[in-house]
Amino acid sequence: MPTATAEAHPNIAFIKYWGNRDHEARIPSNGSLSMNLAGLVTRTTVTFRPDLPGDRLILHGHHVRGRGLARVVRVLDRVRLWSGLHWHAEVRSENNFPTGAGVASSAAAFAALAVAAAAAAGLDLPPRDLSRLARLGSGSACRSVPPGFVEWLPGSSDEDSFAVSIAPPEHWALADCIALVSQRHKAVGSTEGHRLAETSPLQNARVADAPRRLAVCRAAILQRDFDALAEIVEADCHIMHAVMQTSRPPLIYWTPTTLAVMHAVRRWRREGLPVAYTIDAGPNVHVLCPQEKASEVKARLLRLRGVRQVLVATPGGGARLVGEK
Ligand code: PMV
Repeated sequence: MPTATAEAHPNIAFIKYWGNRDHEARIPSNGSLSMNLAGLVTRTTVTFRPDLPGDRLILHGHHVRGRGLARVVRVLDRVRLWSGLHWHAEVRSENNFPTGAGVASSAAAFAALAVAAAAAAGLDLPPRDLSRLARLGSGSACRSVPPGFVEWLPGSSDEDSFAVSIAPPEHWALADCIALVSQRHKAVGSTEGHRLAETSPLQNARVADAPRRLAVCRAAILQRDFDALAEIVEADCHIMHAVMQTSRPPLIYWTPTTLAVMHAVRRWRREGLPVAYTIDAGPNVHVLCPQEKASEVKARLLRLRGVRQVLVATPGGGARLVGEK
């Protein structure tokens, strides 16, 4: 039976993707830049079988149907189109990090799915096509395919919208201390959120200024300039949340604990600790710092009221096969 297993990490965006030019193909309104998160891993096995009446998705041993399955089918359909294989597939996936903890798992999941499904179907795709394939399931997943520090070149069509590595994981010993402040499921997921972006009068300004923010962030990474990174990462986070908070209906992902962490991080930085925060479509706060400061930052975060758990991740590799039969 054609089968393959792949692993991938989630990623944290330093310059965010929010809003699409083309929702169906997930062509983003602006480029984005991220770091893969080693330590957090999704492992996915894809097996194409002649006896299956339809594609099947099993997450942590539980069958998933509905929208979650539909997004997987979208990726598998493209693999069938490119390979000529007509069988349906069974997809089994597991994360080593707590699901439902509010750490976005879709990027890792679709990156691992793309790599495993392509290999299982006998396709030998170049990295840019694996990144395009992952993008069909979740936009940010295209950034979990290449290793290390990654830029999604937005492009204007399915063919030219994919991500590339701008520096390998060992380029910069950064850490992401993820302060988990809520176990609850997010009210509005990112697929719906991207559609709301264009209802904010601030989105055009955010998108127009994105090339500047990308250039500043890219330079900060390449020069390992933490102060410059801190400033641009927080500015980009604020402008995305400004769009979210001014869309119709408004999306307010922050909780009082989110704000408390933001204020604490800014205070610590004023006191001389190199730290910066960024927040995705949820209440958790990603606190970036040099790796040698990670245990101190983690301890400080755990002392803040409302912070339940802190996961520490370092720059991670790309999506890769772990076994092929
Ligand atoms: O890939 P999606 O549809 O889950 O969107 C990701 C959106 C953000 O996490 C908020 C920003 C980003 O660039 O990762």
